[in-house]
Amino acid sequence: MPKVTIYNPRGELEAEGEVPEGSSLLEASAQLGAHHGSACGGVCACSTCHCWVKKGFESLDEMGDCEADILDRAYDVKPSSRLGCQAHLDHQDVVVQITEESENTWYDEHPKERHEAEAKGLWPPK
Ligand code: FES
Repeated sequence: MPKVTIYNPRGELEAEGEVPEGSSLLEASAQLGAHHGSACGGVCACSTCHCWVKKGFESLDEMGDCEADILDRAYDVKPSSRLGCQAHLDHQDVVVQITEESENTWYDEHPKERHEAEAKGLWPPK
């Protein structure tokens, strides 16, 4: 099984572990407990699962037309950008960084965790 290493938007290690081959990056984040947003539920309609692939980009499946169109709407798109719900793993290890847009969406989707992070002074990030 490929190992997925996930960093938050500030470059801090957020999660790491093995996930089944064929999983999307978004599924990997959910399985490993990373704060990777997905406003449309993973159907290629929002761009909030945007992430940067720091290692293993070439091992992911090819980007389709829908993903390319939706990525055009995302912030801070780079050559390493992918939509987490559309990029799937093969057997190779991958390193990913979640974008600020995606992390913000995750907190919007998880108000309990947002309130806990706010109470601890961890959110919003300084
Ligand atoms: S979750 Fe909406 S495009 Fe990926």
